[in-house]
Amino acid sequence: MKAKTLDDFSFKGKRVIVRVDLNSEIIDGKVSLSERFLAPVKTIKELVKKKAKIVLLAHQGRPGKDDYSNLEQHAKLLNKYVKLKFVPDVIGEKAVNAIKSLKDGEVLLLDNVRGLKEEFEPSKDNIMAKTLAPLFDYYVNDAFSNSHRNHTSMVTFAQMLPSCAGRDLEEELTSLEKIKIDDCLFILGGSKPEDNLLLLKNKNVITCGIFGQVCLISKGYNLGAQNEFLKDKLQYVPKIKESVEHVETPVDLAVKIDGKRKDLKLEEFPSKYEIFDIGPETMKKYVEKIKNAKGIFWKGTAGYCEDEQFSVGTKTLLKAVTGSKAFSILGGGHTTTALDRMKISKKKIGHISLSGGALVNYMAGEKLPAIEALQNV
Ligand code: 3PG
Ligand code: MG
Repeated sequence: MKAKTLDDFSFKGKRVIVRVDLNSEIIDGKVSLSERFLAPVKTIKELVKKKAKIVLLAHQGRPGKDDYSNLEQHAKLLNKYVKLKFVPDVIGEKAVNAIKSLKDGEVLLLDNVRGLKEEFEPSKDNIMAKTLAPLFDYYVNDAFSNSHRNHTSMVTFAQMLPSCAGRDLEEELTSLEKIKIDDCLFILGGSKPEDNLLLLKNKNVITCGIFGQVCLISKGYNLGAQNEFLKDKLQYVPKIKESVEHVETPVDLAVKIDGKRKDLKLEEFPSKYEIFDIGPETMKKYVEKIKNAKGIFWKGTAGYCEDEQFSVGTKTLLKAVTGSKAFSILGGGHTTTALDRMKISKKKIGHISLSGGALVNYMAGEKLPAIEALQNV
């Protein structure tokens, strides 16, 4: 890893900005306690122990979106793991005073940085950078999952202050570097085609789940009744068509007839039944691919895992992945939930990522602005 780490600086008595990613689902106005809250804890605790004065910067949603909110609840949730104070301000007098009066080993969380338009207009000359940077000695990025965003709190402070990766970012980057994107097998499933689009350009791609079905449609297959359930995913077909030819798609699929699983060959479509999983021939074919893979990246389940009879596809592929000697990376919340439900040990997976867009961009070979900024100092 090219970036510096917490080992490279002495933090005693120093003021440190730590950018974390606490962005989580909000259900009925309540912020969910996601694993994102645990991710930066190691870094924060280490800095507390080293007697730094710590200021956390974070975001939630975007102005105008349903999940946009202040960070008051986030502060309470993070307080379960590390003692901290919340200041409902970012660059105003309240925030500046609180930062200036921090004692060694104390932790402060400021409010949602996305409340400032300057967050979205990164520049050393914007009011956010000019107010905060002079108050600090170091900048730590511990937010891999937001590192694809070219924002002030992700990029500009890294350009203005001596900077390094936090422990979570360090672990994420070190794991990702164990995979060579060019020889990696990509298993793309799940129900959000938009998340997978960038990855289709990779060489070795096998598809499953709703995504696999949309790829089949993009290749010209007619799935029958299932087309209706895929209606809102069909907008991605034109884009997928551009790079689907080399992509492996299912050769059979499981439908539900009178509540029971039945496997149908691709030639038996269009059918009047809804599809819930990949079929046994597809599983066999994909397991073979997994056995020969040098590195594996998996995102999205193969079928509807909430129903046991349709979790066979996901389970079969997961077992092949955990049995393989290749280093594996798992992304996407549902894939990890499936792992827990099937009682498959997480220890057998090389790395489980909590990142969405950042991970996809990285695996598509794109440069992440915040990582670039950290490495170019
Ligand atoms: C995420 O949750 O994927 C990151 O925090 C980035 O958030 P964004 O997609 O709203 O920029
Ligand atoms: Mg996102």
